[in-house]
Amino acid sequence: MTSANYDVNIYRYNPEVDSKPRVENYSIDPKKIKGIMLLDLLEAIKSQDPSLAYRRSCAHGVCGSDGLNINGKNSLACLTKLKDLPKKITIRPLPGMPVVRDLIIDMDRFYKQYESIKPFLQAKEKPLQEGEYLQSPEERDKLNGLYECILCACCSTACPSFWWNPDKFVGPAGLLWACRFIVDSRDMSTEERLKDLQGLWRLYRCHNIMNCTNVCPKGLNPNKAIHTIQEQISKDSNSHN
Ligand code: SF4
Ligand code: FES
Repeated sequence: MTSANYDVNIYRYNPEVDSKPRVENYSIDPKKIKGIMLLDLLEAIKSQDPSLAYRRSCAHGVCGSDGLNINGKNSLACLTKLKDLPKKITIRPLPGMPVVRDLIIDMDRFYKQYESIKPFLQAKEKPLQEGEYLQSPEERDKLNGLYECILCACCSTACPSFWWNPDKFVGPAGLLWACRFIVDSRDMSTEERLKDLQGLWRLYRCHNIMNCTNVCPKGLNPNKAIHTIQEQISKDSNSHN
């Protein structure tokens, strides 16, 4: 029995030669695909048309570089099983971001917001002889569901609040990381971190649409992290009243 070819539409745009984006269609024989993931299908297309550009590195859901919009939903090509997709597939770059070429987006505004939350531990300096910063198992457990983020940007680029205000709203990924440091018992900058997120824009542009949580390919819940920060801010302000 022969199985039908994949019918794949891919967004193409090379600003150096194209006046505007176009969609290119590829018909791919499943026998030419050397694997079971969408990334393997992309590799088969690339061997047929080397001009197609996309990012990939680890192929195992670790580096976060192959976030794409696949049949309307953001996900990682290397974690998307072909058996879960129909034979007709439309692949576009992650939405709401400038396109560098084909499926490659400019991640600058995403990284700027990530950087803005100071994504590193700010512990008080102590003499070396005092040893490591210890955590109880319960304190360590609070980081679960936060530290696993691979910065693929699938969540923030699915968020309308981030589309409209990428320079002002931190976005779901950056806020998940902010939460990761706010709840870390070793971090000594909780107050400054909470203060930095107050006001109309950085945190409170979240309207609970939940796209972030629905698309995260690592099964994380940025919306819950946003609520954790909001609760912490309200506890903090009550304790100062
Ligand atoms: Fe990607 Fe999930 Fe991290 Fe968002 S929270 S950047 S979707 S891994
Ligand atoms: Fe690294 Fe997919 S290629 S996460």
